[in-house]
Amino acid sequence: MVVKPKIRGFVCITSHPEGCAAHIQEQIDYVKSQGALPEGPKRVLVVGSSTGYGLSSRIVSAFGQGAGTVGVFFERPSSNGKTASAGWYNTAAFTAAAEKEGLFAGNINGDAFSNEIKQKTIDMIRDNLGQVDLVIYSLASPRRTDPETGDVYKSVLKPIGAPFTAKTLDTDKKKIVEQAIEPATEDDITNTTKVMGGEDWLLWMNALRDAGVLADGAATLAYSYIGPEVTFPIYRSGTIGKAKEHLEQTAADMRAAGQPAWVAVNKAVVTQASSAIPVVPLYISILFKVMKEKGLHEGCIEQMTRLMAEKYQSGDPRVDEQGLIRVDDKEMQPDVQAAVREIWPTVTSENLESITDFASYQTEFLRLFGFGINGVDYEAESTLEVEMDA
Ligand SMILES: NC(=O)c1ccc[n+]([C@@H]2O[C@H](COP(=O)([O-])OP(=O)(O)OC[C@H]3O[C@@H](n4cnc5c(N)ncnc54)[C@H](O)[C@@H]3O)[C@@H](O)[C@H]2O)c1
Repeated sequence: MVVKPKIRGFVCITSHPEGCAAHIQEQIDYVKSQGALPEGPKRVLVVGSSTGYGLSSRIVSAFGQGAGTVGVFFERPSSNGKTASAGWYNTAAFTAAAEKEGLFAGNINGDAFSNEIKQKTIDMIRDNLGQVDLVIYSLASPRRTDPETGDVYKSVLKPIGAPFTAKTLDTDKKKIVEQAIEPATEDDITNTTKVMGGEDWLLWMNALRDAGVLADGAATLAYSYIGPEVTFPIYRSGTIGKAKEHLEQTAADMRAAGQPAWVAVNKAVVTQASSAIPVVPLYISILFKVMKEKGLHEGCIEQMTRLMAEKYQSGDPRVDEQGLIRVDDKEMQPDVQAAVREIWPTVTSENLESITDFASYQTEFLRLFGFGINGVDYEAESTLEVEMDA
């Protein structure tokens, strides 16, 4: 079948097997082009390893630091003539490349919030790596089923305290629209924190420790976002921000209990998760323009390489006063934010393409699904079924 992108709102329901594989290879090539990275953890578990920041983290650990990895994700194989999800193809390509270099790459496909998947992961670590030295927690999910009660929690993106009328970008219609978003209820805040806060992260760490598969001094990292004032009402001061505060507090609590644990604050990038957040695609389109002009542009792989090469420093990371690792330092530079603030009020549907880098936003979005990657023949027939043990 010749695979073409089919975009529905902020998802693409098809993905390109060879394109995803080429995208993985690009990331591997980038990491290798950086020369020798500092020694890093050699046995790494990545929860949320198939797309976005988790995938890039796994690539850096394996191809930059020679780690054997176990990846946990929720992806769909190809069936009934439909393509697999991008994360499936990504992981298949990652695994083949890692094995070619003699690196262990074990995969577990299923609900990371469940006890069953935690147990499967423990078994895989015990059987193949013995223990892990680093656990990277990079889940982004709209819902979570509590493993003990069976209650289902849903994460929402809402402001807190007052309605918020946001200038946002309808990426489908290429139009700037005003979107009114009603404030969250207490229940919304609880729900979002249950899904995207630190509760499940802590459950993972406790389960791994109790099973004896955490090496002495093993550390853990999770990811957060802060961003600029224009996104505060929907992000940092909204429901997701409350969840991130909980995640950050969980890291502090783990450290207090003797478990090395940090949150890295990463920059805004195009991923399946971020494309669903109101305001963020417009902000990213402007940010890309500004950061590219200043020679500061970075995507997931550049961010995760810098995290491991410069910031993490083998379990003794550089942190700010709040104990956070700041990989968003370039995004938050005063000159970058001043330039974004200047452009922000002037953007209209008419000048969107000229004063922002919406073109790159769109290109990056398609690349998530393996489209628009150099060297791939998009007119050729693709084999949709790609085998992977997971
Ligand atoms: N995208 C950004 O701009 C940005 C910026 C800073 C921080 N972050 C943070 O980075 C982290 C990862 O986000 P991302 O943008 O890379 O997201 P993403 O959507 O690209 O990746 C999410 C990953 O989680 C996995 N996943 C989701 N639900 C699962 C489940 N129930 N069981 C197992 N796996 C599951 C997916 O398979 C995928 O591997 C999040 O904490 C996010 O807040 C993102």
